[in-house]
Amino acid sequence: MMMMGIKMVMFSMLMVGVLITTSFAAYNVTYDHRALVIDGKRRVLVSGSIHYPRSTPEMWPDLIQKSKDGGLDIIETYVFWDLHEPIKGQYDFSGRKDLVKFVKLVGEAGLYVHLRIGPYVCAEWNYGGFPVWLHFIPGIKFRTDNEPFKEEMQRFTAYIVDLMKQNNLYASQGGPIILSQIENEYGNVDKAYGEAGKSYIKWAANMAVSLDTGVPWVMCQQADAPGPIINTCNGFYCDQFTPNSNQKPKLWTENWSGWFSSFGDSIPYRPVEDLAFSVARFYQRGGTMQNYYMYHGGTNFERTSGGPFITTTYDYDAPIDEYGIIRQPKWGHLKDVHKAIKLCEAAMVATDPTYSSLGSNLEAAIYKTDSACAAFLANVDTKSDATVKFNGNSYQLPAWSVSILPDCNNVVLNTARINSMAMLPKYIPQSLKYNLDSASDIQSSWSWFHEPVGISKTQAFVKPGLLEQINTTADKSDYLWYSSSMLVKGDEPFIQNGSQAVLHVESLGHGLHTFINGKLTATNFAPKGNHKISVDIPATFNMGKNTIDLLSLTVGLANYGAFFDLAGAGVTGPLLLRSSSGGLTLDLSSQQWTYQVGLKGEDLDLSSGSSSLWDSSAFPKNLPLTWYKTTFDAPDGNDPLALDFTGMGKGEAWVNGQSIGRYWPSFIAPGTGCTDYCNYRGPFNAEKCHKNCGKPTQTLYHVPRSWIKPNGNVLVIFEEIGGDPTKISFTTKQVGSLCSHVSESHPPPVDMWTTDQTGTNVGPTLSLECPSPNQVISSINFASFGTPQGSCGTYSHGICKSLHALPIVQKECVGARSCKIGVSIDTFGDPCRGVKKSLAVEAVCG
Ligand code: GAL
Repeated sequence: MMMMGIKMVMFSMLMVGVLITTSFAAYNVTYDHRALVIDGKRRVLVSGSIHYPRSTPEMWPDLIQKSKDGGLDIIETYVFWDLHEPIKGQYDFSGRKDLVKFVKLVGEAGLYVHLRIGPYVCAEWNYGGFPVWLHFIPGIKFRTDNEPFKEEMQRFTAYIVDLMKQNNLYASQGGPIILSQIENEYGNVDKAYGEAGKSYIKWAANMAVSLDTGVPWVMCQQADAPGPIINTCNGFYCDQFTPNSNQKPKLWTENWSGWFSSFGDSIPYRPVEDLAFSVARFYQRGGTMQNYYMYHGGTNFERTSGGPFITTTYDYDAPIDEYGIIRQPKWGHLKDVHKAIKLCEAAMVATDPTYSSLGSNLEAAIYKTDSACAAFLANVDTKSDATVKFNGNSYQLPAWSVSILPDCNNVVLNTARINSMAMLPKYIPQSLKYNLDSASDIQSSWSWFHEPVGISKTQAFVKPGLLEQINTTADKSDYLWYSSSMLVKGDEPFIQNGSQAVLHVESLGHGLHTFINGKLTATNFAPKGNHKISVDIPATFNMGKNTIDLLSLTVGLANYGAFFDLAGAGVTGPLLLRSSSGGLTLDLSSQQWTYQVGLKGEDLDLSSGSSSLWDSSAFPKNLPLTWYKTTFDAPDGNDPLALDFTGMGKGEAWVNGQSIGRYWPSFIAPGTGCTDYCNYRGPFNAEKCHKNCGKPTQTLYHVPRSWIKPNGNVLVIFEEIGGDPTKISFTTKQVGSLCSHVSESHPPPVDMWTTDQTGTNVGPTLSLECPSPNQVISSINFASFGTPQGSCGTYSHGICKSLHALPIVQKECVGARSCKIGVSIDTFGDPCRGVKKSLAVEAVCG
């Protein structure tokens, strides 16, 4: 009976899937206290964030398909105002900015869209997504009850809504958009804006509703979201969240699947057991829609990363990696979680859960109607596993886990027990294929241009005092020169031993290269957690005229916090000359400074590769402020591609004129703070699990395949600090080995409920599948049934092992794209009676 029930649920889910893919005739989206109601039906939904400009249109169909295969119903994206309106009134929706195309592709794949218009988006995106020209509108104050700001915000929001309407993209028009967001986490900062913040949020809500999209609006982290706007939760956990009205459903707009990385830091990651736990807890406690932020993080191309110091990679440890490869076992385990939750949908949407305690830190939630029953059993203890009694049965509950029982009886999934396979990535280095006759002379394939130190452009200007950088550059460039000269006679109070002094510089950040008499004397960056720089630079002066040239640079404009738009940057002083003993000072802050916005090479458009100024003689290495150029042929194959910038300092790089972002491999993460094994049990935070300590934060920089052609590609680099471009190479990323480790006492994978023709539960099964349809399993590196140990790549036999495991697995798997093996003594015989056994396999696809 029970099996029949589950099959019926699965059948009806399949039917829903079919309807979604084919129906997009106009349909209604509303909500009530339980769920979003789509076309009259309450739904349990799973969503994931993919930001369209963080990948390429060529990658979108595959990313969307992998999201669908992973069990998502909705793709959530922000809309990036600065990209779409780089100049006030001039709109751009080309290439990676083709929002309409992205939304249509999601719809064509049968998935829904949650369009988070913002237009403030945070998102580790430059200036939180605001175009910098907004800052220059007279009288403007961002994100508060300010007429000039509200006018612009309304104009852009309405523009996007109209664009979506013109393309029939709202549900009410038969399109995929079922939800939209206005503002972003304003509730986290609203106190700083006082009463004007409160009236601003009311205005934003009314403005959004007046745009008449026909679908509900949400505000995230906004406990006082007014009227019909649904307030939603963001965080690593949202099971304890309640919306501000019992007419609104419990929605989770950002479940952080990992975390972003910053230059100079180690790399955060989030164990999937904890992520799965957070998801299951949310649905256990009445949630009906949650979104992974990010499902695919992607890349901060060009100068789009926020900051300061957000890396170019926005991988985020998401279920799909930066390059578009599924990350296993994360993607697969979550897919299993989604299937298990969907099996509970009928019961979940019909009623509120009832909770009961099964002991200390042990909680059951039951969704029960006359015709359906689903239960979630949680052990929220951070250490102790437990055995609980529920409905007359006994269940094992590992610490920090949830078991899902779609029939209130059988466990189809426990969040801490992974049935999905793991994958080890393989990075294959390839040298740059220069257009060269002889490989012995790599240098001759590079040409270069030395960016002049100090003022070199005619548009330079002189001003008394020190200027704030963003007001001066309008973020047209990362760079601003501050130049001055001074006569030294030798008897100045700040000079010691005839020539020595100390230059004290204070800057709002983010970086500073100090040149004295044309020579790079110091490079400084704002310390972690503090955007400001305060340095004492020992300086040697000549008798007579001396030059001081300060190259101040931003590394992504701030994107978060109250008044983040006013954080500022650049050398705002004081700027002092002191004697090295700290004695008398000369204040240079208010004297005349000559300013130059940006670099000469930027004006000359060197990044495009053209220009007659490239020099091919006397190739310089380790020279600061140097532009380099070479041409290369496409690396072999079709695997995702990255440039390995090991050997370089810091700068920006362009392939065929497209910026692949800022690179900075010389910035090494601290040696401590990482864990080889991160215990997933217990509350996660962004500092908890880090890897890559003591190594450069980022050496590999994604080059989308669609940006290169077979021959004659142009690579241009601007290097600030000094590096050796002949060391640059390519790396391709592939799936190395597939692994799986399944215990004979695992709950059967959700898949297994219907696989056996007789309808019998076939028990724990180990499954392997090569990621690409034109691959087969070519060899088995390891197979052991008994008590194997270790993890993917380092498995070893335990004391107990069956002698038949390797040949059985080889026979079943080699030559096939996928295989499934029953994890039981029926398959392998019993090598050690009374001992709990498992099967571990490592396979290679070819
Ligand atoms: C949230 C914000 C997102 C993103 C995230 C961290 O606070 O809404 O846009 O910045 O944090 O990745």
